[in-house]
Amino acid sequence: MDELENKVAVITGAASGIGRGMAEAFADAGMRVVLSDVEEAALHSTTGDLRDAGANVHAVVADVSEAEDVTSLADSALKKYGAVHVLCNNAGVYAGSKPSWESTLDDWAWILGVNLMGVVHGIRAFLPAMIEQDEEAHIVNTASVAGLMTGGSLYGATKSAVVALSETVHLELVDGGFKPRVSVLCPGLVDTNIFHSQRNRPARFADAGPWPRDWSVEAARRAFKLGLSPRSVGEEVVRAMREERFYVLTHPEWTEHLKHRTARILNGENPTLLPPPGS
Ligand SMILES: NC(=O)c1ccc[n+]([C@@H]2O[C@H](COP(=O)([O-])OP(=O)(O)OC[C@H]3O[C@@H](n4cnc5c(N)ncnc54)[C@H](O)[C@@H]3O)[C@@H](O)[C@H]2O)c1
Repeated sequence: MDELENKVAVITGAASGIGRGMAEAFADAGMRVVLSDVEEAALHSTTGDLRDAGANVHAVVADVSEAEDVTSLADSALKKYGAVHVLCNNAGVYAGSKPSWESTLDDWAWILGVNLMGVVHGIRAFLPAMIEQDEEAHIVNTASVAGLMTGGSLYGATKSAVVALSETVHLELVDGGFKPRVSVLCPGLVDTNIFHSQRNRPARFADAGPWPRDWSVEAARRAFKLGLSPRSVGEEVVRAMREERFYVLTHPEWTEHLKHRTARILNGENPTLLPPPGS
């Protein structure tokens, strides 16, 4: 999808971090942008900043884990701009990295609802209209390098599922002769608010169990400050859409980890984890 000027993009989780970075990069490319988020005040603040900078934007509050919210988001975007050319299923949360058996059912329900079902709801609500438009269109699903690697706890499980789902949708579209294309975004560390995901955790999933013994918010914050800027990730997404590139990897320092995992699978060896880059 080469021509982005005036095209319409919808981004979930757009109030903060990578979603905001994509919104800024898309607006700079001349796109009209629908920003959506569950966090209303942050959504209106981000949308206001973009509008003040001259962007053509529209804000819709929606919880991606609720199918009806995402259907209403699609209705609102189509009513406002008449078409949707780019959908970024980006909203996501982190629920800590406790051992799988110590993660509570509320942990699992919350993170699966946002990280996986959020993408499912986006595809179901938007893709029929994007196919029907019969124009160039693109879906960007935000997974993570954790979705391509060994480990990652329940977060990694949701992101592996997003990679698998994205590959499936890509094949379905190509095999069916439909115009929309797909990318799966797999970043390493990006300097965002993801480690404060609990701010959006619904009361119905309140049981977070015992917090992990080795958890240090300060250490996590320091690590994330070393991450890429969300804006640079947004610009890489623009390049990937123009090139119709499916796998969007932003952190070459994880390459050895991906090779290591693939080699162990092909050699029939059990999983092991290399130390993180830079450690
Ligand atoms: N930051 C990283 O290092 C990193 C790395 C790889 C992948 N990711 C992924 O990037 C995506 C964006 O996260 P981020 O790092 O920018 O974090 P962030 O917390 O800065 O932004 C996430 C946004 O999603 C919104 N959100 C949370 N729950 C929602 C829900 N139920 N419905 C709608 N919106 C909801 C939040 O309000 C927030 O605005 C996530 O899918 C995350 O898993 C992040």
